[in-house]
Amino acid sequence: MSRTLWHETTSARARFEIGSGILADSGAIITQALAGRPASGVLFVCDEAVNAQGSWADQVASSINGECSRVAIQASEATKSIAQWQSTLEKALAVRLDRDSVIVAIGGGVITDLAGFAAATYMRGIRWVAVPTTLLGMVDAALGGKTGVNIPLPDGGLGKNLAGAFWPPEAIIADVRTLSTLPARHVRAGLAECLKHALIADPGLAAIAAGAAAAATSAEAVDQWKLMDLVSRSAQVKLDIVAKDERETGLRRHLNLGHTFAHAIEARGCDGLVHGEAVAVGLVAAAAASVAAGKLRPEQAVAIKQMVASVGLPVVLKEPVSAGSLVDAAASDKKGSRGTLMLVLPVSGGGVESVPDSGGALFRAGVAAVGAGSS
Ligand SMILES: NC(=O)c1ccc[n+]([C@@H]2O[C@H](COP(=O)([O-])OP(=O)(O)OC[C@H]3O[C@@H](n4cnc5c(N)ncnc54)[C@H](O)[C@@H]3O)[C@@H](O)[C@H]2O)c1
Repeated sequence: MSRTLWHETTSARARFEIGSGILADSGAIITQALAGRPASGVLFVCDEAVNAQGSWADQVASSINGECSRVAIQASEATKSIAQWQSTLEKALAVRLDRDSVIVAIGGGVITDLAGFAAATYMRGIRWVAVPTTLLGMVDAALGGKTGVNIPLPDGGLGKNLAGAFWPPEAIIADVRTLSTLPARHVRAGLAECLKHALIADPGLAAIAAGAAAAATSAEAVDQWKLMDLVSRSAQVKLDIVAKDERETGLRRHLNLGHTFAHAIEARGCDGLVHGEAVAVGLVAAAAASVAAGKLRPEQAVAIKQMVASVGLPVVLKEPVSAGSLVDAAASDKKGSRGTLMLVLPVSGGGVESVPDSGGALFRAGVAAVGAGSS
């Protein structure tokens, strides 16, 4: 029970297999992806939770012929760090990976970002395979070839993904059965990226996401076909954009909808939100900023807020934070250029637009609408 999409960039074409119960076939998929140049060694970089729960990593390991070394990492924004990147490279050296070796990343976005960056930099770049085990990873983080880690901002905040590389994987294997052990909070976090894709290019995704949200909190078994539909349809929005603009020179910026806000929220550690939750608040903020820019009608912003709330995601910040501190954090984000923030905003005719926010007034309007104080 699986389907194949293609992950295309200007530099590479990789198979993206989406299915239920396909981890047992992952060895064959990986072997095919490495065709002509077999791996001289394999290092699994896996999420500690995935290593333990459901033994998802064991299933991948037992499907691969030959020995694999393994490093298990506790996934968090704090461990998506230079220190963890360095210790991953040291592990790669210790198990004698060479330029023909392969890193297999098994986990959520934290792990695929970190392991992909280790692959991009070890011996000037070795091949890697992504096995995302979170919804967010399947529809977003494992796709598009962006890899990286966080570094501290000069003021001590979290500089999201500020060290990284474009380094696409050789194959992506998404087994929706792994989502059966994912806590509901993280299923919802993944839905935020699905809603982002709905707003960018596929409005019908919103209803599918709402169905998945209801299923995630019910006692009944989640329909695997519906999950596969959600993953493939949401991922397709990103794949289509990345195929046209791998290096984010134009169109790919659209995928940053909600993210300039989200990264500032994460930099300040607001409400202890995880990435997808910060994106959810970011989508609401982007809608408000768009109203301020005259590009969205107020009732459309209300509809976006309701759409986000309907899947159980946060739409406001609860703990006090000043707009000024979020503006400062946003100024360090990669999405600005020469001091001007570039915001991606939903627009009234559907879809999104990149809008320069030279004085920061639109950003401030956005964060005010989600509860930031005025100072
Ligand atoms: N590279 C990109 O293009 C891109 C895009 C979007 C997001 N991201 C990054 O992705 C990260 C967020 O990813 P995430 O939401 O997957 O978070 P995550 O990797 O932190 O995983 C969420 C939690 O789920 C646990 N987990 C993972 N799989 C599990 C499973 N199958 N069963 C049980 N527990 C499991 C993890 O241990 C963790 O506690 C952020 O760092 C974000 O910046 C990157």
